[in-house]
Amino acid sequence: MAEQTMLDKITSLAKRRGFVFPSSEIYGGFAAVYDYGHYGTLLKNNIRDAWWKAMMERREDIVGLDSAIFMHPTTWKASGHVENFDDPQIDCRKCKTRMQADHVLELYGISANKMPLEFINEELNKMRGATKLKCQVCGSTDITSAKNFSQMVKSNLGSPTDELSEKNVVYLRPETCGGIYLEYKNTLASTRVRMPFGIAQIGKAFRNEIVARQFIFRTREFEQMEMQYFMHPQMVKEKYEMWKETRWSWYLQYGMTEKDIRWHKHKKLSHYASKAYDIEYDFRSLGGFKEVEGIHARGDWDLTQHGKFSGQDMSYFDEKTKERFIPHIVETSAGLNRLLLMFLDKAYVEESIPNTGDEAKEETRTVLKFDKRLAPIKAAVFPLLKNKPELVAKAREIFDGLKEQFMCEFDDNGNVGKRYRRQDEIGTPYCLTVDFETLTDDMVTVRDRDTMLQERIKIKDLKNYLKERLNN
Ligand code: GAP
Repeated sequence: MAEQTMLDKITSLAKRRGFVFPSSEIYGGFAAVYDYGHYGTLLKNNIRDAWWKAMMERREDIVGLDSAIFMHPTTWKASGHVENFDDPQIDCRKCKTRMQADHVLELYGISANKMPLEFINEELNKMRGATKLKCQVCGSTDITSAKNFSQMVKSNLGSPTDELSEKNVVYLRPETCGGIYLEYKNTLASTRVRMPFGIAQIGKAFRNEIVARQFIFRTREFEQMEMQYFMHPQMVKEKYEMWKETRWSWYLQYGMTEKDIRWHKHKKLSHYASKAYDIEYDFRSLGGFKEVEGIHARGDWDLTQHGKFSGQDMSYFDEKTKERFIPHIVETSAGLNRLLLMFLDKAYVEESIPNTGDEAKEETRTVLKFDKRLAPIKAAVFPLLKNKPELVAKAREIFDGLKEQFMCEFDDNGNVGKRYRRQDEIGTPYCLTVDFETLTDDMVTVRDRDTMLQERIKIKDLKNYLKERLNN
């Protein structure tokens, strides 16, 4: 059997242990769309909450928003998405595989992200001349020229008898920040924030991606965590650096090392942008560094465009300086699902087990060493034996006492060694075992996920024990 790649291992564990399932599997699947199982949902919520706490709750200068997915279709004309939100597509004439041209060029070290179609076709032709341009699936050299393929996902609202036409097309938002620009004035009028300030939002976005073969890295339905920071144009330089530092340190706080992430500077900027850097993570499962978040200085483009298309005044009047201006924006934009894959990729470890006690039954274990704040389940409570009612009752009592405060699991299935293996694979930091001694000394055995060391802890001290260790 061929050796499993890291991506195979993560994909298989994600399905087996209820993190991520391919969507609509009973109907043969639905390309580039995924469902999140019990542990995946918990993990995703914890990542989302960590971002929300850092980017909104702990900041006085940022407020929250939850805008609708459907927006007035003019929104996407104003933003340029209807005209320009395209990817360059090429097809293999032999096996009909569809490929994204800039991704193919990247394989040959040519950076073509967001480059014009003419540039891409020129580079493709050079490769054709050198007979390097081949289908990634069947190897054929019969490949079409690149043409633009819109990433906008269309839908329609209204009466079912309405004729389907361009007139009543609505779009599923391709990014969440569109809603932020449209609610900038209502936010200013209804909250106490003043310039410079930010609006943070987490929500679904939809893109008709040409190819999506990298598990949940690039999907057609995904979630974004975006923050738009509004300010006087003279503040952009300072605030841009502040946001770069802030976002970089967020990754370090949640377990990334300086080696795991790096900055990627965009070579070609959109005409309105003054700076654009991405944070890239070194995915073991995807063969190297890939973007997880963008930090972009967008100038006054967004508010100016929406002002133009809506006829509304989007300017801000500064009471102190008596100056009126269109605010400039620095954006931080991360993909929640992509961060989930990043945390899975970082946490996944296969290691040998020291030959002691309950751990001795198998030689190796797979463990997800998540930052404890992100772990889906914080503690699992086990009765040593499931057929001893006094142990089960005591374990239930402890579980009931902890579950109000911590996401816990009660597990009495199989022997303790097997239960450890299962909890390791979902990344549970602590396993608490109730044994016969517990009935007399009111203590449980607490086993640490990372060190596998065990210690006896008084039941009455468990809440503090967990609280201290789970908050990092
Ligand atoms: N508002 C700016 C914006 O949307 P982007 O670089 O297109 O910029 C930002 O997207 C982030 O959203 C990316 O860094 C990535 O983490 C995530 N993202 C974008 N497209 C995605 C897709 N098809 N699947 C999963 N995540 C995606």
